[in-house]
Amino acid sequence: MIKKIFTIIVLITSSLLAQTVRYKPLIKVEQNQSSNFTNKSIERKIDSILSKMTLKEKVGQLVQIVGEPEYLENLIKEGGVGSILIGTGIPGEVNRLQKIAMESGLKIPLVFAHDVIHGYYTIYPIPLGEAASWNPDIVKKDAHLAAMEAASQGTKWTFAPMVDIARDPRWGRIMEGAGEDPFLGSIMAAARVEGFQGDDLKDPYSIAACAKHFVAYGAAQAGREYNTVDISERTLREIYLPPFKSAVDAGVATIMSAFNDLNGIPASANYHTLTEILKDKWKFKGLVVSDYNSIGELVRHGIAKDKYEAAGEAFLAGVDVDMVGNRNIGDVYSPNLEKLVINGEVSIDKINQSVKRVLRVKFKLDLFEHPYTDTTFYKTYLISKEERENIVRKSADESIVLLKNTNNILPIKKDIGSIALIGPLANDQKDLIGGWSCAGNPDNAVTVLKGISNKVSSNTRINYVQGCNINDSVETGFEKAVSSAKKSDLVILVVGESRKMSGEASSRVNLDLPGVQEKLVEKIYGLGKPTVVILMNGRPLTINWISENVPAVLETWFLGDQAGNAIADVLFGDYNPSGKLPVTFPRSVGQIPIFYNHKNTGRPAEPNDKFTSKYIDSPVTPLYPFGYGLSYTTFNYKNIRIDKSKISKNDSLTVSIDVTNNGNLEGDEVVQLYIHDRVRSITPPVKELKGFKKIHLNTGESKTVKFKITPGMLSFLNKNLQPVIEPGIFDIMIGGNSVDLLLTSFEVEK
Ligand code: BGC
Repeated sequence: MIKKIFTIIVLITSSLLAQTVRYKPLIKVEQNQSSNFTNKSIERKIDSILSKMTLKEKVGQLVQIVGEPEYLENLIKEGGVGSILIGTGIPGEVNRLQKIAMESGLKIPLVFAHDVIHGYYTIYPIPLGEAASWNPDIVKKDAHLAAMEAASQGTKWTFAPMVDIARDPRWGRIMEGAGEDPFLGSIMAAARVEGFQGDDLKDPYSIAACAKHFVAYGAAQAGREYNTVDISERTLREIYLPPFKSAVDAGVATIMSAFNDLNGIPASANYHTLTEILKDKWKFKGLVVSDYNSIGELVRHGIAKDKYEAAGEAFLAGVDVDMVGNRNIGDVYSPNLEKLVINGEVSIDKINQSVKRVLRVKFKLDLFEHPYTDTTFYKTYLISKEERENIVRKSADESIVLLKNTNNILPIKKDIGSIALIGPLANDQKDLIGGWSCAGNPDNAVTVLKGISNKVSSNTRINYVQGCNINDSVETGFEKAVSSAKKSDLVILVVGESRKMSGEASSRVNLDLPGVQEKLVEKIYGLGKPTVVILMNGRPLTINWISENVPAVLETWFLGDQAGNAIADVLFGDYNPSGKLPVTFPRSVGQIPIFYNHKNTGRPAEPNDKFTSKYIDSPVTPLYPFGYGLSYTTFNYKNIRIDKSKISKNDSLTVSIDVTNNGNLEGDEVVQLYIHDRVRSITPPVKELKGFKKIHLNTGESKTVKFKITPGMLSFLNKNLQPVIEPGIFDIMIGGNSVDLLLTSFEVEK
């Protein structure tokens, strides 16, 4: 009781205090303290439960049911299910099902899972957009708030973060991850895991995270969803594995095995990646869940003749839990694992190991002690609507990337006479919350029209016209759009993709603006009015014409609930844009895959030499490079310097650079550090991101930014795939994107 009063006082006090104390006191509610399982005692408890379980019950823990089939209650009573992929917003139902589990057999709690990708009720920018903030603190905070909302509804396990590196924007799932770079991807992976899982999984508002999709799903050939992946072991280790390693180091509770074929062995049957790397080398102690029927699909991959064989392949490779144990869909482990044990093809010890992994996650989540969801938590402990909106708005502000701003057409004056607001996404609510928006309600989303209306003076006229749809060929709305533009001082066009055009099963072969949107932009631009284009999309688009002609372009991804307000913040200069692209924007689909950390080749592109690595019908460079993004102010970089010009292999050095805001507005800048090893036994990439810092500079202010260059940043995998540092010259490059960089060099001595 005393504890409870104390907690309430802490909560009240905390809500009165400044931003910085917002989270910690809120999540430290009474339940945290009461669970006294240490790791050792958890393991003892697990052993004791295991010793009482029948083989059937053990297999049950390795089965996940999707939704609520009519036989679910009986299955729970029989101990035939360990987890449930549940819908949203049904805590009463979760508790009802949990009660059945807690009153049956060995009283092992169920864990309820869902895809909480970028928010539960409150919707944040899509992960690709948030990665553009280069601000892991924001990402962590958002994941934490999402976890709080999810847990309050009984969802204690999210199938997120997606940490797949994606170098191919045709692949629709690029919107779910942090883009093309393993370093940025690793930072964001850890931030999301830490956000979802909080300080301790036992906390009532922490939920188990799941790094997915293990592994290399993003390397699908031709960007085609679910397609084969055939990459070298080196590329696997250098590019696709690091974000997973980062998630594991951050304590991720679970990992999901992917759908794809990986070099001939599907990821959900891949002993090398699941057991040798993940469980043995990285010592991952949590559970591995398959993707949706990815075990059943081993039959169609052609490595198992039936589900019996598929069960054996996946289980022995290291997949602990079969997602979709439903009788009509997957149902691979439930009818087959017992048989495999009886037939001597799978050892009981191996089954025990997997069951332990499942029980461990349940213990860590404190479900044995607190299996039920307190449905009053949501009201009692969650932060206020206003506070939530501020958090989302800040993430959205920081996720916007200013691609172009000729003659400083932006920011716009709030007392401008009139604005023509045109485009299929200008007054849209449903698309701007993006794909995988969980229990998000589009009705809560602030449209661009609303955001602008909130911002401008009472005398400003907004002439809104839809102009066209997102993806059809109807041009009948053009005429109205033209007359709206003609009578306005400035035009803002809001164009892009629908939310369904990215995400799962949404690969595209054409990355142009869909439908007649570009035609509309061309027509309106032709009227000669100052024109701004706002893009909304889940992937890089090929926007050459817009980029060449339209003076101001903002990339806004899908920004979530506060999209309209955040876009207006940037349009009218209340927030000076600071986002930087987490992925390269190609000029054409023909350039894909295009990424900044490529190899040099023996014939790097030379403008005057035909026989060099380039195209005869397109520049070789991207439209916008990785790390790119403008500000309303300008940042000047100078005096790159190092404190040592020679170091030994185990030594570190410090590189410094002076960054000055020499424009007229305060602003944030992402200072990016790239390293290039000039000569080594394996060809080096031309540069690799190895660090970044987001700094704030007032007008005229200078800051010295320092990075410590440590041995880990200089090592690479040699021909035996062992990490080594080879002596020689290293280039260090620092700047505001991956192209405009200042350079210095140092030597690693023999
Ligand atoms: C997706 C996963 C997701 C799962 C459950 C699958 O189709 O690939 O990312 O977690 O469904 O919703």
